[in-house]
Amino acid sequence: MQLGEASSADSWTDSLGETEAPGQPAMKTRLGPGLLLLIFLLPACLTAAGRETPYEKFQRQHVDTSGSWEPDPNRYCNLMMPRRNMTVSFCKDLNSFVHGALAMITAVCGSGGTWHHEDFYYSNSPFQVTDCQTTGASRWPRCIYRGDICSKRICVACKNGQPVHFARPSVCGGP
Ligand SMILES: *[C@@H]1O[C@H](CO)[C@@H](O)[C@H](O)[C@H]1NC(C)=O
Repeated sequence: MQLGEASSADSWTDSLGETEAPGQPAMKTRLGPGLLLLIFLLPACLTAAGRETPYEKFQRQHVDTSGSWEPDPNRYCNLMMPRRNMTVSFCKDLNSFVHGALAMITAVCGSGGTWHHEDFYYSNSPFQVTDCQTTGASRWPRCIYRGDICSKRICVACKNGQPVHFARPSVCGGP
């Protein structure tokens, strides 16, 4: 925070305090910094959420680095889709989670993958992947998923050496 901002903010709380009933100023000065913190941090948090980079979004939607995960793919999807914010304003119909270390998945854009076309790279090795798909009974906000886990090579679009989109294997010429 710059000095100028701090001093103008201080005078603002001071003037607020003066409008209150006498006997309360001690309380006001204690609330002041907390209130200020909230006012400065709240917009910062909102902007941070909105500023999710494409790589961060890819990780949220498609990367599960936890070594052990819910083994029932149906339960896994119904747990993970809301947890990763993909059921917030609609039920995302189809989404794949790749199980593995972020470095291994990111490497598909480099030595771990083979360029296919445009930005798309096909992994040289298979990954464990859980595909989640909404069932016919799924109605937002009650999103219901069927999960399917298998081992397959993954096709991703890369920007600046980082995966930013997950694509069906067929996009990379796979099955
Ligand atoms: C989901 O959204 C909430 C509210 O915007 C946020 O606090 C949380 O970090 C998000 N979760 C993930 C996994 O991004």
